[in-house]
This record gives sequence, structure tokens and C-alpha cells, in this order.
Amino acid sequence: MRYSVKPIHCRPWTLNGLSLKLIESHYENNYGGAVRRLNAITQQLEALDFATAPGYAVNGLKREELIAMNSMILHELYFASMGGDGQPIKPMVEVLTRDFGSLERWRAEFRAMGYALGGGSGWVVLTYVPREGRLVNQFAAEHSQAIAGGVPVLALDMYEHAYHMDFGANARAYVDTFMRNLEWTALFKRYEDAPKVQPPRPLVQEEFGDLPGVDVEEVKAMMAAGQPVQVIDVRPRHFVSRQQEIAEGIEWRDPEQLQQWMGDLSKSEPVVVYCAYGFHIGCKTAIALREAGFDARYMRGGHSAWKAIGAPTKMHT
Ligand SMILES: [Fe+2]
Repeated sequence: MRYSVKPIHCRPWTLNGLSLKLIESHYENNYGGAVRRLNAITQQLEALDFATAPGYAVNGLKREELIAMNSMILHELYFASMGGDGQPIKPMVEVLTRDFGSLERWRAEFRAMGYALGGGSGWVVLTYVPREGRLVNQFAAEHSQAIAGGVPVLALDMYEHAYHMDFGANARAYVDTFMRNLEWTALFKRYEDAPKVQPPRPLVQEEFGDLPGVDVEEVKAMMAAGQPVQVIDVRPRHFVSRQQEIAEGIEWRDPEQLQQWMGDLSKSEPVVVYCAYGFHIGCKTAIALREAGFDARYMRGGHSAWKAIGAPTKMHT
């Protein structure tokens, strides 16, 4: 397959403070070079006999393919990031305020990251992360780092080839000039497209689909706030004896003996039960408690999630 060179989006003659000479050299030599390199690497990969090729040859070509491909993609985004009047548009200001507190806060962080990369090489990338449904300013050294599954929406090139011709070592002046040329409308359109990428699918337990669950952070917060809640560890006996630890402030009860201890619980306060990882034992216990008239829920992720958030445990006696 052949990768094609895309046209330069930013209308170089409209840029304020960046010379045509710099932009043309950047586009033709560095961006064009990445696409040409990517095509040459692809050809070599297509010709490679993977059954006999030594590991270092496979590693080398696949690493160079990644670098060239990211260089191609980020350069296209970089050139498409400029060509505007640098005046933020309202819907994009609202998005940045939601995710960074204020436009100024986002801009200060993005700029500072560019200044900090001055004299080094890399990228500053504003990336939408579907998992969190928000934007993050991402640091990238070389061309080979990107947020996995992220959707980049704005890129600042901090390789010296992007500014040295016009700015010498004054990377700060280059960053400020870049910001003055931002194409905010195009940036917002890319942001509008980004959330169409679906976040990773959440865990679905079809057999317990209707059972109400509660996140471990919420349980910890309820306990810390002194809210009336009866939290019970119902891991199977063999789990507790193997791990010998239990969440601090929480009692263990044997799920096999549910009928014996259920009567000790109050029906006027909510009950939260959990097992090792938040699957069958915790869910089934919660169902049995609900059938007996308790306001019971299971804790998602179970004991392991409790430990994963760094909540305290103690030895079980
Ligand atoms: Fe570049």
C-alpha cells in the first residue's frame, strides 16, 4: 500500500510571524520526508519473509514504521492547527473550561509544555480520551508516543526544524506565534468528531443485569462521611483464609451461612455486600438479601477494587 501526501491545510501565506521558507521546508522536507520514509518502510515490510526474518530486522522496521506514521499523522494535524486568527471560539472555550477549569489554565499548560520542550524534540498534543470523555494536553517525546486510543485534536511541533529557521533558539517566541495562528473553528470541528469514538465497553454481567451496584469509591466515601451503611465482605471462606486480609472497618460473613447472620442486619439502613472481584458470590448474596426485604447492593470490583483504590486493609483474625 502507498501513503499519499495530503495538501497543507493552513494556507501558509496567511500565517502571522512564520515565514513561508520555514513552513515550506517543514512541509516538504520533514512532513514529506515522513511520508516518503513510511512508503519505503512499507515496501520493505511487504517484501520481508516473516518466517525467516531475524527479530532485529522485524523490530527495526516496525519501530521505524511507527515513528514515520506518527510523524505523518501529527504533521498533518500540526499544519491543520494553524491558519486562523488565534481568537478562541465560544463552544471551544466552554469545552476547555469544562476540562481544564478555564481557557487561561488550558493555554498556560499547553504553552508551558511547549516552552519546556524547547531545545529538545517532541510534540504537545491536545487529545480527546474517550474513556474519560475529556481532553488532555499530552507530552510526546519523538514521534513514537501517543495516548493509546486517544484522538488528537491539536498538535504543536517542537522539533527544531519547526522553528529554528525563523526563531533560532527562541522556542518561546515560536510557541507564542503558533498560538496566535490557531485555527479555532477547525479545532472545534475536530473536537466535535472525537467523541464519536466509543469509549471502551463497560463490564456487563448479563445474569445480574438488573441488580443495583455501587462503585467502590462511593462506598469508601459513604463510610468516611459516617453515613449509615452496612458493608459486609462475603468472600468465600477459602479466599479469606488464603489472603488473610480484610478491608478496614468491614466485617466478614460466610456467604454459605447467610440465613444465620442475615437477621443481625437492619432493614432501615442500606446494605452493601461484595466478594473477591464483584462477580457471582457478591451478586447472589445481594439478590438473596433483596428477596428477604433488605435494601442491598453489591460493590463493583469487590475486595480487589477496594485494594486498587488504596483503601486500608488489616489482617483478618
Ligand atoms: Fe516537524
